[in-house]
Amino acid sequence: MGRATVVVEVGVVIVLLQLVSSINCILDRSQFPETFLFGTSTSAYQVEGGYLEDNKSLSNWDVFTKISGRFKDGSNGDIADDHYHRFMEDVELMHSLGVNSYRFSISWSRVLPSGRFGEINPKGIEFYNKLINALIHKGIQPFVTLIHYDIPQELEDRYGSWLNSQIQEDFGYFADVCFRAFGDRVKYWVTLNEPNFMVLFGYLFGSYPPCHCSKMYGDCQFGDSKTEPYIAAHNIILSHATAVDIYRKKYQVEQGGMIGIVMNTYWYEPFRNLPADRLAVQKALSFFVGWFLDPIILGEYPPEMQRLLGLRLPKFSLEEKKKLENKLDFIGINHYTTLYAKDCMFSQCDYDTHQWLWDASVWLTGEKNGIPIGVPTAMPRFYVVPYGLEKVVSYLKERYNNTPMFITENGYPQGNNPSDSIEDFLNDSRRVEYISNYMDSLTVAMRHGADVRGYFIWSLLDNFEWNFGYTLRFGLYHVDFNTLKRTPKLSAEWYKQFLTGAKTLKQKGSETEVRQQLHY
Ligand code: NOJ
Repeated sequence: MGRATVVVEVGVVIVLLQLVSSINCILDRSQFPETFLFGTSTSAYQVEGGYLEDNKSLSNWDVFTKISGRFKDGSNGDIADDHYHRFMEDVELMHSLGVNSYRFSISWSRVLPSGRFGEINPKGIEFYNKLINALIHKGIQPFVTLIHYDIPQELEDRYGSWLNSQIQEDFGYFADVCFRAFGDRVKYWVTLNEPNFMVLFGYLFGSYPPCHCSKMYGDCQFGDSKTEPYIAAHNIILSHATAVDIYRKKYQVEQGGMIGIVMNTYWYEPFRNLPADRLAVQKALSFFVGWFLDPIILGEYPPEMQRLLGLRLPKFSLEEKKKLENKLDFIGINHYTTLYAKDCMFSQCDYDTHQWLWDASVWLTGEKNGIPIGVPTAMPRFYVVPYGLEKVVSYLKERYNNTPMFITENGYPQGNNPSDSIEDFLNDSRRVEYISNYMDSLTVAMRHGADVRGYFIWSLLDNFEWNFGYTLRFGLYHVDFNTLKRTPKLSAEWYKQFLTGAKTLKQKGSETEVRQQLHY
């Protein structure tokens, strides 16, 4: 090959590389399919308030925030964002953003205050009907989660909720009521949100209701962190399967929707460049996500879980396996950050009560030799690592045969320091940078063939952030928790511009200033 040919070829490669990198830099709506869902996410307990209105009963979170003594500043979801009364205003906010979908959850205790042991609450049905109709009227598809952590307290008191197989019947009943009441208009159903964290926080650390754990993990009156997380997870998996069974048999053909489950996902990097740490990454993925998705999609718990947990891991009976054959239509991915995974089987790991993968002999950390894996945020163990989204999506694509996926949550926490001014909150350029870089990383996975069909920002509004109360803000809209006034942040304007091409950002300065502010 002559020298001239080599030079030309190198030139072509450089131009191609520039083209690819310019595609990466300029994120725009046209990089996603027309049918792609772009939305915002919330959940009932975190935004609704109206905690005892219109016959709603107490949920486990209503009770937990009041009696656990863990919320010293008294924060709870009694009022939250008062979305229960302000939902019309919130639908308007979404409409002005230009989103075509809204992910929210249904409060089980609002619809069925006593589970299957009592009547359906017409007021609860009415509230969600009004919300759904208002959304559809504005061209916004409802994307509905049945359980986002909160369940009627009565189910806890009667039989111990997720530790008892009775919950499968209760959940099936609740799901049936919702499919029947709303399924003519709801085309996307999520059975449960983040059952992995729900179980780990509820039964390993005891930091969420029902506040169960062994003494070595936390301050709980009851519990056994060695076994209960696995029992609860087993009942959750089968509850999911029960709801899908009902949907498939009674509603799906006529209503034509899809049903899935939402998992919390991390990406992991090996702590050291060692085979043991690369294996730790695989185990971390299996013990956190495969734990639920393997049985649902592949029919059995991940092999490494079966091997390492032995009899602690419940077994599926033949009848249960049959039920699992209904699988799901999509995987919902909540993804925020990436951590390092270190092997503890052959290496020494420091004891730390916050580790949730001891059973996998994996130790997780966000720092190596004092250097964080990405820019830290106001939330512990939350670093900005955009490429993690591409990695997680590609991993799930391979493991589960490219089952359709939705990014059901991705977003950025800002600390709610009393010394910060409202301008500091509104000028959330770090959130814009986070979201645009993560979206960009998503486009890489999609270009490599991942069947991703939607992306939802957590969250529409600042809201009640579980154990952090109101000390962290995730919203595109700032909420003044005294007056409940909603004000768009820079990120809301950025999202609107991204979705609609509207140049509202100019209002805050020249295009160049805004670009500088947004680092793109
Ligand atoms: C995931 C949970 O689903 C949501 O409720 C929570 O607020 C966000 N992560 C942020 O932590």
